[in-house]
Amino acid sequence: MAKGRPSTAFFCNECGYESSKWMGQCPACKAWNTFVEEPVSKTAQSGRSGTVRSVAQPTSISSVSLEDAKRFGTGMSELDRVLGGGIVPGSLVLVGGDPGIGKSTLLLQVCRNLSADHKVLYISGEESLAQIKMRAMRIGDFDDKALLLCETNMTCIEEVIRSQKPEAVVIDSIQTMFSENVSSAPGSVSQVREVTNTLMMIAKSLSVMIFIVGHVTKEGTVAGPRVLEHMVDTVLYFEGDRYASYRIVRAVKNRFGSTNEVGVFEMRSDGLSEVTDPSQYMLSGRPKGSSGSCVICAMEGTRPMLVEIQALVCRSGFGIPRRQATGADTNRLNLLMAVLEKRMGYKMGECDAYVNIAGGLRLTEPAIDLGIALSVVSSFCNIVIPEDMAMFGEVGLSGEIRSVTLAANRIAEAAKLGFTRIMIPAGNASNLEAPKGVKIIPVETLSDAVDRVDQGTVP
Ligand code: TYD
Ligand code: MG
Repeated sequence: MAKGRPSTAFFCNECGYESSKWMGQCPACKAWNTFVEEPVSKTAQSGRSGTVRSVAQPTSISSVSLEDAKRFGTGMSELDRVLGGGIVPGSLVLVGGDPGIGKSTLLLQVCRNLSADHKVLYISGEESLAQIKMRAMRIGDFDDKALLLCETNMTCIEEVIRSQKPEAVVIDSIQTMFSENVSSAPGSVSQVREVTNTLMMIAKSLSVMIFIVGHVTKEGTVAGPRVLEHMVDTVLYFEGDRYASYRIVRAVKNRFGSTNEVGVFEMRSDGLSEVTDPSQYMLSGRPKGSSGSCVICAMEGTRPMLVEIQALVCRSGFGIPRRQATGADTNRLNLLMAVLEKRMGYKMGECDAYVNIAGGLRLTEPAIDLGIALSVVSSFCNIVIPEDMAMFGEVGLSGEIRSVTLAANRIAEAAKLGFTRIMIPAGNASNLEAPKGVKIIPVETLSDAVDRVDQGTVP
């Protein structure tokens, strides 16, 4: 390499794969056209190999339970649930999500709760002290132990953390922080890596818990949290419709607890508030006695959630019918309508069909099939599905209803919310005990299910 020329390398924007030359496709994650050229420095290289020590290894399950006793509660049970029972000291937690979804609000609230007993430091590279104060005023009163810092230089941040010795630190956001060791712009892959490495070293050596905010960008031009996911202990994603008030926090990686857990929050004028009974929340405002609506028991992780599915089937004005599913997979809707047409003889080939999961939730599990199929039939034939009926089940290609996991939990949740008739796959019905006052309706095929749903024939 010519002397004096800064050495550069190519990084994959998706996974952070490093290569000495540009490539069209990343050999690691197989993404196309994701390589960007960035300068690398000697110090960054040495820092990288020097910081990932044995402490950063994923923790084995047996040692997690030892840590459990020392976990800090965040003061929000929904968040604690996602974290696996609280924050582990010395852990690095990444909170990712679209801009404006409420990441800063959530972490400021965590700071407020933690500051009752612990010293916390909120470092923002995005907002001024006054702006943070304005947000904080909406959330509530803060203790003196909650400290604020507006800084983007990692060297200064490290110094402040070492001198102030807080027990928890929030970095908002990783894309605004920069290290002097790396010459590329803040938010680039190498900067994000270097900054995260420094933070990890601080977290492990001082045993301070660090929350990192990471933005997800659609273009993928800035290094998204994808690159970070490999490095941190826990990755939480903050999801939800910006226009709906509910938000879901989901763990996609957790070295100290289970993934698949979700926490549900609602954005209010005074910050995020926990939704401890999401089913109740999702079902509020459900129309009574109208066709094309039914209630399903879906699972979000290990938590059952009752959700309303709405369908509208109407004659198409054009040659090609429109099929649209919001919150569910449109291909799945097409498939279910094909099953209804072929196996049950409904002539829906010239009909538009719209399916909506009320509340803005996005569901992918196959257990919602039965609900989609029945709400479509309900709308097409103008049958009203009884209000007190809930259902779940996967629909097979020959119209059979296949069993699903965690049937007992789903039934219990539906019973808790006052549903008295629950339609389930026949395969799940054996060795199941119905809760008191609840009638279990096992069904084997889709036509069986449609027969039983017609109000007159439901026992
Ligand atoms: P914010 O935490 O700034 O999002 P992020 O850090 O993920 O970009 O949240 C911003 C949104 O939340 C904004 O649209 C306003 C709304 N909000 C409320 O509705 N109530 C509140 O009390 C606060 C603080 C914010
Ligand atoms: Mg923010």
